[in-house]
Amino acid sequence: MERKINSGKKIAATKSLEFIDPKKIIGLGTGSTVNHLINKIHETFILNGQSITAVSTSTETTDLASSLGINIIDLDQVDEVNVVIDGADEVDPEKNLIKGGGGALLMEKIVASYSKQVIIIVDSSKIVSNLGKFPLPVEVVQFGSERIKASIERFLISLGYQMPKVTFRRSASNKYVTDQQNYILDLHLNEILDPKTLSIGLLQIVGVVEIGLFIDMASKIIIGNDDGSCKVI
Ligand code: 5RP
Repeated sequence: MERKINSGKKIAATKSLEFIDPKKIIGLGTGSTVNHLINKIHETFILNGQSITAVSTSTETTDLASSLGINIIDLDQVDEVNVVIDGADEVDPEKNLIKGGGGALLMEKIVASYSKQVIIIVDSSKIVSNLGKFPLPVEVVQFGSERIKASIERFLISLGYQMPKVTFRRSASNKYVTDQQNYILDLHLNEILDPKTLSIGLLQIVGVVEIGLFIDMASKIIIGNDDGSCKVI
């Protein structure tokens, strides 16, 4: 019997195959849902002798995809990515997202911004009415990161967030380092009422490289349910 856990993710990943044209370059996001997709691409295309060329958003994705016969090329080698398929940590009714739970938000956002279509694959647990329960990841440079963290805290207080908790990913003494050699700060906000204002302000803080809010970027959301059904928004 198939394990129920993660089956909504698998359903969404399988549905997204319909949006892949093997003749065109695809982008592969990062995370467990995308790992299901990579396995499905292997089963559906590679094992049937069809080649797939993709731009990757992390070393994790590159390693898995390459091991399953997907040809990974550098973003700089392509003029345009036809479609990037990626997961998300939260999706709101406007298709705005929180991403970066897997620490790959910077490369994910770069690839998304050079893709004709951005398709997000999630299970129904990721659908929320307001973003923010999931801590918002913010990628910052290593130099001066404690000062940058303090600036972010001051900015959050100025926006009215009460005693915002900002933590280094993993721990303060053993900070998580991204593929681009930066740190990640997680902003525990509980609820983000104005994602645009937050996004604009955070990106103005010197040392902030990118943030996990993806506003107006998703073309489609594919939501998979554990009962095998799925919905495309
Ligand atoms: C990685 C991400 C992932 O897409 C997000 O964390 C969802 O992961 P999963 O598919 O494992 O639930 O943004 O940086």
